[in-house]
Amino acid sequence: QTLDRAASIEDLRLIASRKLPRMVFDYIDGASGSEATARRNRSAFDAFHLRQEILVDLSRRNVETTLFGERVALPMVIGPTGMNGAYWVQGDLCLARAAKAESIPFVMSTAATVGLAPLVEAAGPLRWFQLYMLRDRGLARALLERVHGAGFKVLQLTGDTAVVGRRNRDVRNGFTLPFRWSMRKLFDTARRPRWAWQMLREGSPTLRLFAEVVGDVPTGATISEVMQHQINDAFTWHDLEWLRSAWPGQLVLKGVASREHARMALEAGVNGIVVSNHGGRQLDGAGSTIEALPEVVEAVAGRMTILIDSGFRHGADIAKAIALGADAVQLGRPTLYGLAAGGEAGVRHALGILATEFDCAMALAGATTVAELRGRASAAM
Ligand code: FNR
Repeated sequence: QTLDRAASIEDLRLIASRKLPRMVFDYIDGASGSEATARRNRSAFDAFHLRQEILVDLSRRNVETTLFGERVALPMVIGPTGMNGAYWVQGDLCLARAAKAESIPFVMSTAATVGLAPLVEAAGPLRWFQLYMLRDRGLARALLERVHGAGFKVLQLTGDTAVVGRRNRDVRNGFTLPFRWSMRKLFDTARRPRWAWQMLREGSPTLRLFAEVVGDVPTGATISEVMQHQINDAFTWHDLEWLRSAWPGQLVLKGVASREHARMALEAGVNGIVVSNHGGRQLDGAGSTIEALPEVVEAVAGRMTILIDSGFRHGADIAKAIALGADAVQLGRPTLYGLAAGGEAGVRHALGILATEFDCAMALAGATTVAELRGRASAAM
């Protein structure tokens, strides 16, 4: 199957699985432990129905919305993902350019494989930054100053990764930084010549932003172990106050899973939240995000921006979240499958699929704008 024939995100996933070596595909596709939470993220969409409407004037429709005071073309955001350079050469830049072309925000990850300067050059004005709180507060402050100086207006603190989930596929596959080659991996990679050629030409991707900020990056371990080495596992709600004072822009807390978290986030003075379980890559056994959304929406009561991610693969999934009260949906794997399938064009293809599906779902639910979609979903009986 070719990129232009791909009709769904699942089609792009299949192309990605053929183009990437197994260990790289599994890093994207996999989750932690038994992967029960990742499965639940998907199946839980069945617990909600969109209300079908008929005989409504749908001739003028608009899928734009506003996030943190900025107009965005779709209620979607390309969420933060690490190691993007392993899926396509300069993957971070491909994602950023695709987001710019579609006029939606792109979130740069702390685990980016490019430095700040090239990313800023590629990205549009809607560039946001994701922070893994570093062990060294001085380094964290220096990083934040550079990020703010580079014109990023929104910061997402990822709160669900103090301890990095154990991703069994990576352990089994020996997916380490830098890549370590065995006969089996070489054989597998030889069957993916395009990827192999890209990586040969450019060299093994590294956590370049980390290297810029921290100076050196421990190597020879799985990606999770490398991240664990730098992430501050003692950072608490109390420390969030410090971050609030250290960051002058919009502050978003990622990893909110309950009404209690939403209330505490409001109290801490953050401007938005991402209802997220990290795509099932962190606490295996945690509940789905779409099921947590209604109580979070109720607790927030319009007082801050609500983003959500984890398991969104169809425009109708996105329509359900908007109907239940989210402002926009962040994408993790969907745009990465697109990236692996065809670089920037693949990411744009993924966004095109989701945009078309979303517009169709919104219309058939009887809404001509994103705002009108609110309230048009309910729990299935
Ligand atoms: C992630 N995610 C993530 N989150 C984050 O805050 N910082 C990061 O560096 C990463 N890295 C990362 C790598 C890969 C390969 C994946 C798949 C995910 C989590 C991401 O932002 C998001 O929460 C989930 O991916 C959402 O679930 P879906 O859309 O992938 O189902």
